[in-house]
Amino acid sequence: MKHLLKMLDLSSEEIIDLLNLADQLKYERKHNIPHPHLQGKTLGMIFQKASTRTRVSFETGMVQLGGYPLFLSSNDLQIGRGEPVQDTARVLSRYLDGIMIRTFAQQEVEDLAAYGSIPIINGLTDFCHPCQVLADLMTIREYKGGFSGLKMCYIGDGNNMANSLIVGGLKVGMEVSIACPNDYQPDRKVLDFAEQNGGFMMTDSPIAAAENADIIFTDVWASMGQESEAEKRKIAFRGYQVNDELLGAAHSDCMVQHCLPAHRGEEITEKVFEAHANEIFDEAENRLHAQKAVLVKLMANQ
Ligand code: CP
Ligand code: NVA
Repeated sequence: MKHLLKMLDLSSEEIIDLLNLADQLKYERKHNIPHPHLQGKTLGMIFQKASTRTRVSFETGMVQLGGYPLFLSSNDLQIGRGEPVQDTARVLSRYLDGIMIRTFAQQEVEDLAAYGSIPIINGLTDFCHPCQVLADLMTIREYKGGFSGLKMCYIGDGNNMANSLIVGGLKVGMEVSIACPNDYQPDRKVLDFAEQNGGFMMTDSPIAAAENADIIFTDVWASMGQESEAEKRKIAFRGYQVNDELLGAAHSDCMVQHCLPAHRGEEITEKVFEAHANEIFDEAENRLHAQKAVLVKLMANQ
C-alpha cells in the first residue's frame, strides 16, 4: 500500500491490517504508551474545503506519532491561483514525507499520487471519503465484535460517503443495502463493484433497505460544494430521514452512524441522534486512531 486514494484500491487484508493497527494505537494512547513512529517526519495537509474532524485528527495524530503536521489552506497556496497539481506534487515531494488532501475532484488526488513521490492520503473528495470509512469500520467492529453476518444500511444521498461505505462494507464481508432517490444514486464504478461482489441491494425505499439492519448510516443531503442545491435536495430527500419509524424495521440493537456534521431534522431526527450519540462520537474519535494507522503504514518505513 503506497497511498490511500479510495477504498476500491485496498484489499480486504489491507483494510483489516489497518483496523488492527488502529486498535493497537488506540490502546496505546488510552494507556499513555508512547508510539513515536513518525519522529522527524512532516505531513502536509492541503484543504480546499472546510473541516473540523479531519483537520484536527490528522494534526494531533501527527503530533502523537512524533511528527510534524503542516496545515496548507488552498487560499494561501499557489494551487489556489492555478498552479497545476502536477507541479505542486513534484515540489512538495521534495520537502514533505506525506500529503493529506481534501478537495473536489478525485482526479486531483490521483494526479498528486501519479506525479509526486511521497504517500498521498485522500481526506475527502466528491467521490469518496476513505479515512472516514476506516473509522466507521473500526467502530462497527468495536461494537459488534466482527463483521460476519452483519447487514449495513445507508440511507440518503449516493455521495462520497455512500461510495466509500458500500465498497468498505462489502470488502470486509458485510451485507450492504442503500436507499436513495433514483436521481441520487452512487457512482457507476462503485455500483459495478458492488453488483459483481454480491451481498448488495439498492432501492428507493428506505424501509426496505433498513429491514433487519445491524448498522444504519446516513449523511447530509447537500455536501460541501452543493450548497446552492440545498432547497431542491430537501424536496428530493423528503422521506429519507433516519427516524424511529425507520429504526423499527431494523434489528432492535441496530447501531446508528453519522460521519458528521449532522443536520438534525433533515437526514436524522434529534431523538435518534441523541439516542445514538455515544456510537456517533466514538465513530468521530476513531478518525484519530484509524488515520494514525494509515500514517504509520504509509510513512514509517519511508
Ligand atoms: N466527517 C468529517 O470528515 O468531518 P470534517 O468535515 O469536520 O473533517
Ligand atoms: N458528504 C459530506 C461529508 C462530510 C464529511 C460532504 O462531502 O460534505
